[in-house]
Amino acid sequence: MTDDVRPLTFRDGALYLLDQRLLPGEETWIECHRYEQVAAAIRTLTVRGAPAIGLSAAFAVVLAAQTLVDHGIEGEELRFGLAEAIAELATTRPTAVNLFWALRQMQAELDSYPDAAGAQVIGILRAEADRVLREDAAANRAMGAFGASLIPDGANILTHCNAGALVSSEFGTALGVVRAAHERGRSVHVWVDETRPLLQGARLTAWELQRLGIPCTVITDNMAAHFMARGRVDLVLTGADRIAANGDTANKIGTYGLAVLARAHGLPLYIAAPTTTVDLDLRNGSEITIEERREEEVTSYRGQQVAPTGVRAANPAFDVTPAGLIAAIVTERGIARPPFTHDLSDHVASSRARAELPVSGV
Ligand code: MRU
Repeated sequence: MTDDVRPLTFRDGALYLLDQRLLPGEETWIECHRYEQVAAAIRTLTVRGAPAIGLSAAFAVVLAAQTLVDHGIEGEELRFGLAEAIAELATTRPTAVNLFWALRQMQAELDSYPDAAGAQVIGILRAEADRVLREDAAANRAMGAFGASLIPDGANILTHCNAGALVSSEFGTALGVVRAAHERGRSVHVWVDETRPLLQGARLTAWELQRLGIPCTVITDNMAAHFMARGRVDLVLTGADRIAANGDTANKIGTYGLAVLARAHGLPLYIAAPTTTVDLDLRNGSEITIEERREEEVTSYRGQQVAPTGVRAANPAFDVTPAGLIAAIVTERGIARPPFTHDLSDHVASSRARAELPVSGV
């Protein structure tokens, strides 16, 4: 088995997305030539996970430019068409801030070349999307290196949802930390929360860990307290979709419950996320928009109805864990500790400063 899972790749003018809805049963790639296809893929969770959503959107802007230029659209009209595509992509999912961050990067890069036209615009956008992808890969490795110091030998780690290579350019965020600890020779075992309703844990995290040869056990979400009470969990480690300036963290629904359980059992909860997930514009988690998804995701599974016809279901896709329940937040710039406000703004500032340096090869 190879360990180089990548959820997206741009080749010969098309964006290829690994269809995460079909994993682990089928490895099918979706070929996208138009930005609307990518927007649909983000909405349907064909591609998912905060950084991967942002990266897909960045390449979708390149596709939009290709389509417009192919249709002979130039000048102001081209820029107007791109602004429309960016606005549409921004409506695909509301919680993961990486989406808005990546679209802002693309818009800013375009704006810095006001005289560029045609193929040149495509080239500028493609180079920017490639840069964002490369920086995400580097951030994942750096997070892994910092985060591994939090993982003792023999640790039983409980994780929720999927925060592996599938959510990023490669390597992963929270699972990247597990992977880095494993690569450093530490023996680890991962309790994989199934993660209702869409089973990102049972389907995706278990698949990734198996490929990496990292021991893991899938549990249903309601088993976490049982294993914590029996001393079978040493720490909880998850990714994030948006982190407010004070450290309040939005992640897959159920993370907050785990945080409360971890506190009750005296266990640390660690979050691993790149600085592109930190939203310093929000003072705290109450300002984070929580995505509400279709009721059918709860009342049925893969088209098979499991609840009575007509019953109502609630389906918030994320919840917010208060900063006070988080022991540390790992970013590519280091380990932020409570109270997070100072460390997080420091990490974001130093990462932006580095991003502004010229990257060789571009
Ligand atoms: O709805 P999803 O599958 O996109 O949710 C993903 C998560 O909640 C992940 O835990 C999160 O994006 C962190 S991993 C970068």
